[in-house]
Amino acid sequence: MEPCFFIILSLSVCVLIRRFFSLHNKPTTPLGPSHIPIISNILWLTKSFQIEPILPTLHTKYGPILTLYIATTPVVFIRDRFLAHQALVQNASLFSDRPKALAAAKIITTHQHNISSASYGATWRILRRNLTSHMLHHSRVKSFSGIRNWVLHTLLKHLKSHSETNNSVRIIDHFRYSMFCLLVFMCFGEQLDDGKVRDIERVQRQMLLRVKSFNILNFWPRVTRVLFRKLWEELLRLRTEQEDVLVPLIRARKQKQKQGKEEGVASYIDTLLDLQLPEEKRKLNEEELVTLCNEFLNAGTDTTSTALQWIMANLVKYPHVQERLVDEIREVLGEREEREVKEEDLQKLGYLKCVILEGLRRHPPGHFVLPHAVTEDVVFNDYLVPKNGTVNFMVAEMGWDPKVWEDPLAFKPERFMNDESFDITGSKEIKMMPFGAGRRICPGYNLALLHLEYFVANLVWNFEWKVPDGGDVDLSEKQEFTVVMKNALHVHLSPRI
Ligand code: HEM
Repeated sequence: MEPCFFIILSLSVCVLIRRFFSLHNKPTTPLGPSHIPIISNILWLTKSFQIEPILPTLHTKYGPILTLYIATTPVVFIRDRFLAHQALVQNASLFSDRPKALAAAKIITTHQHNISSASYGATWRILRRNLTSHMLHHSRVKSFSGIRNWVLHTLLKHLKSHSETNNSVRIIDHFRYSMFCLLVFMCFGEQLDDGKVRDIERVQRQMLLRVKSFNILNFWPRVTRVLFRKLWEELLRLRTEQEDVLVPLIRARKQKQKQGKEEGVASYIDTLLDLQLPEEKRKLNEEELVTLCNEFLNAGTDTTSTALQWIMANLVKYPHVQERLVDEIREVLGEREEREVKEEDLQKLGYLKCVILEGLRRHPPGHFVLPHAVTEDVVFNDYLVPKNGTVNFMVAEMGWDPKVWEDPLAFKPERFMNDESFDITGSKEIKMMPFGAGRRICPGYNLALLHLEYFVANLVWNFEWKVPDGGDVDLSEKQEFTVVMKNALHVHLSPRI
């Protein structure tokens, strides 16, 4: 009796001990400040979602990966570049999902029917493949060189006439308008008149500038929709205004397609009209087409014009960098008379590439990639990343890491000079990731680099860029949709010939 009792007792104790340890070894979400559900929500609301400024302190306390609870959602922040690579590249199939759209986002994305918000699955794959193979493929990008040239010359003409009458020119409006002309042409396949382009710019921008304020409608939507009725109505109104401007352009193109009158180069909307959604087995409806055009226009204009302004601001602030760039262009163009740096010249301009990379490292337009989600509960770096959570990667912090970049806050294009084939996609190693990394990496990064190189080269080749009398370049930041210059750049332009 006794040995038997002893064996049973020992086994039970073993089971209990195992239970105890397995319970206590269960991975938890990464550490972070404690949260009390309703009170934390109210605190977030009163802080208007200003998360970025508090993150450095929290990372010092909790380490390179931490969790904040926003409403009831665990939001993980990753600052470390090795962890980012481990998640986005090595475990790409797990970390490439997007969070489920909440109330306001459902309106803006038509229930996640665009590339950037779609869940990681068949719809995302077909929309992304359509964009990359039909619009961003090398030969297709080349076919738009005529419009780039036209936009460049229009911009130079505007700048010249402004500089003749004004000592100081506010530059960002010109950059934005130029990028809109370019992307609108790629989107709708025709050169619209000035008024129409400005209309599109207006409706796109007003939504972009307000989109963050609509976040509040995602908290307890049934309550906030009543409490913030005016805000909800504003969201619907802005969306309707976008539809009012974009739908006629979509219909006109559809009509041309029906009549077999497809003129000029194929446009983004043409490719979308032909597309069949694999899961739903249907074509895209008009609302979804608006959402996709909206994404294409915003993704290609706001980010690029923001980056362009930051780069030009640094060239004004550091005239020796501007002069070195001009010397390089002079050397490549040789005796050629024309005042244009052609697209074919760009590959010979090594220092120009360094200037663009340094601009994107020092001033990435997005300080975070878009929020990611995991496709299932994942144990990552000994922590649990739950499927219902959100994962954010801190782009700016990675580009400013002093362990990788000497004097990280200085603007020194030379740092890229010995790294000719610097890999901005981070596929082997992440040192900076202004376009993200892995399967959700920005599909437009090559087009964006081309736009930046082409415009920067021609802008410094045609004008000397200086601070207007008595001024200085203020590099303070402000969060809009992207992180922009708090005080827009004003410049004095003198034609170089
Ligand atoms: C300087 C210019 C640009 C910057 C800095 C930039 C940056 C980014 C970043 C950080 C992401 C998020 C990546 C992630 O979530 O992991 C992204 C996504 C995206 N970008 Fe860009 N971008 C630029 C230009 C463009 C252009 C020109 C286009 C297309 C015309 C474009 C289209 C997109 C799309 C469709 C996505 C969503 C990708 C997906 O979810 O699969 N972007 N971009």
